[in-house]
Parts: sequence; C-alpha cells; structure tokens
Amino acid sequence: GTAARDGQTRPGGPAHSSFVRACRREPVPHTPVWFMRQAGRSLPEYREIRANVPMLESCRRPELVTEITLQPVRRHGVDAAILFSDIVVPVAAAGVDLDIVPGTGPVVAEPVRAAADVDRIRPITRDDVSYVDEAVRLLVAELGDTPLIGFAGAPFTLASYLVEGGPSRTHAKTKALMYGDPELWHALCDRLADVTLSFLRVQVDAGVSAVQLFDSWAGALSEADYRRYVLPHSTRVLGGLADAVPRIHFGVGTAELLGAMGEAGADVVGVDWRTPLDVATRRIGPDKAVQGNLDPCVLFAPWPVVEAEVRRIVDQGRAAPGHVFNLGHGVLPETDPDVLTRVVALVHELSARPVE
Ligand code: CP3
Repeated sequence: GTAARDGQTRPGGPAHSSFVRACRREPVPHTPVWFMRQAGRSLPEYREIRANVPMLESCRRPELVTEITLQPVRRHGVDAAILFSDIVVPVAAAGVDLDIVPGTGPVVAEPVRAAADVDRIRPITRDDVSYVDEAVRLLVAELGDTPLIGFAGAPFTLASYLVEGGPSRTHAKTKALMYGDPELWHALCDRLADVTLSFLRVQVDAGVSAVQLFDSWAGALSEADYRRYVLPHSTRVLGGLADAVPRIHFGVGTAELLGAMGEAGADVVGVDWRTPLDVATRRIGPDKAVQGNLDPCVLFAPWPVVEAEVRRIVDQGRAAPGHVFNLGHGVLPETDPDVLTRVVALVHELSARPVE
C-alpha cells in the first residue's frame, strides 16, 4: 500500500506520511485523502459492532474505539485514521450531564444559563479521559505508518450545544447569551478552551500525528462577531499546541471566516464545498495548507459526476500550498461505502507524481 511505497523513498513512520507532509506543505507522492465521519453508520461493520452499545459508552471502551477507528482504514485504504470519539466526550468528562441521542445528536440535561453553570464545568486531566489515552496508544501501535488524527470540538461549537441544550438551526440562544452577557460568554468559552486544550494534549502525548479542531457551526457568525467572540478562544487552543503536531481547523459555511480561522493558529484550514479551493487559498494565504472539499451529496450522484468533481478538486488542490483531499463535511449515513473506496483510489491515481 501507500505506506510501503513511501517507505522506499524516505524514512517511514507516520511523521513522514503523505498526510503529514501535505499538512506541512512538503512534496508528496500523491494527494492524501481521508473522510470526516469515515468511521460510522455508512459502514455495515460499524452498525454491527455498535448494535447494542450506546454512543458515549462506545467512546469509553478502548478496544471498541480501536476496532471502529481501523474499519475505514482497512476498507478504503485512506491515508489517515481519525480517532473514534465525539466532540462532547471531554465535556461529559468535565462533569456536564449529557447524552448523544441517535438521530438527534448531543442533548444537555441542564443548559448553561448562569455563572454557576460555567463553574460546574471542571477542568479535566488525563485521568478523566484515560480511555482516550489508552485507545490512542493501542491505535498508534496497530496503525504502523498510517497517521492517526486526534480531534476536539472548538469552544463556539461546544458552547452552542451547552447553551441550546441540543442541536440548533439558528443558534439563537447562543447568540442571545453572546450579545446579552459577553462576560458570561467569555467565561464559558474560556472554560471550554481549557477542557479542549487538555483533551487534545492527552491525545498528542499518547501519539496522534495531527489534530483537527472542529468548529462545525462557526459559519453561523459574521466575521466581525467571529473575531470578537470566538477567535481569541480558538487561538488559545491552537496556540497551546504550537510545534507539537499539524493542526487542522474546520467549520461549515465558513467562506467569510477562512482567513480568520487560519489566523487562529492552523497549519491546515478545512474548506466546505461552497468555496473552490483556489478561492479559499487566496483567502487563507500561502503559508497554510487546505483540506477538502467534495460535497458529501455528490457521493449520491452517478459515477461520472463523482469522477469529474474529484478531478476538479484534485486539480484545484494542486495550486494550493498543500492539499489534503476530504469531503466538505462528514460522510452521510446513507452513503454507499464502495463509492468512498473508489474515490480514494481515484484521488491517488489522478494525483500520483514523482517526488523531488
Ligand atoms: O470518523 C470520524 O470522523 C470520527 C468520529 C466522529 C464522531 N463525531 C462520531 C459520531 C467525529 C469526528 C465527531 C465529531 C462531531 N460530533 C462533530 C463535529 C463534526 C461535524 O460533523 O461537524 C459534531 C458537530 C458532533 C456532534 C454529534 N455527535 C452529532 C451532530 C451526531 C449525529 C447525531 C445523529 O445520530 O445523527 C453525533 C453522534 C455521532 N458522533 C455519531 C458518530 C458516528 C452517530 C452516532 C451513532 O453511530 O449511533
């Protein structure tokens, strides 16, 4: 496979993988590819192994996490694994009463309304998430030359779940708190930044090769509000990991925020399908790589359409300082996994090039 081929031309190990090299804007033998939500309901082997285990509990069983994380690597031959977990796992470890409800998402028992609610979110240590530390160590041993991506939710996206009490289309309660009580808002995001940074450091110390900070819902904000209410907190998280491993910063509907999300301290900025990668690169600048950006719904199109879109994105990515192929958001559960496997092979074929 890929790892063996890389191994012939340069020292092996995940730090020298195509994925990590692309994140660092170094030359690569082919464009690396992985998929957000590659581990999950699109795979029958995932549905089978998860059949009688609630989502949060599955995240706390290192052997199960290891198996689920490896499933898409085996099946698709992707260039990176992403730890099977969820953005609310560290928040639950910090003492917040929440659950992940199938078909809905995270639901919080007592939404954040006052300073006392923020005080109840405890800082976390390795011992609070020892199952993540263990899972990462097991995975690093199993994966060999394939890099493992760690991740966490960014303060805004986590705050949205905590303030709304669950998923929201408008983020109205979140914005009402942000505008109406900026002091409480910043106290909440400050605490969430602590939790997120601790959670990511546990993963880095256990051996992940890169991290992705998911600010999935930041696109709900104007650039001015993003800079005032969110950027300082995400900057503290990403800045706390400087010189550790490559940092990917991702959100949906963030066309107007791409520059600011790069400034937060990312090495790679995730781009959804709405912004072509050449436009994104102009907004982000020459000193960062990009990740993306096939529309997950294109995977439901006839193969010639998929092929044309993959070709366009690989070509546009060639002009970027570095490109990691991905979807513009997560794999939808109805996706045919065989299409994902074909996309991986196609990206590798279209992008194959000799290394200088
Ligand atoms: O393969 C991977 O990408 C790693 C696994 C992963 C999960 N959640 C597993 C999961 C990752 C990276 C996440 C991050 C996550 N969780 C985000 C950021 C990424 C994004 O999609 O924008 C967000 C917003 C969440 C919150 C969340 N958790 C949602 C919206 C849902 C879906 C609810 C549903 O049932 O439709 C979850 C649950 C969840 N997290 C599932 C998985 C595989 C589905 C639960 C199941 O399989 O039973």
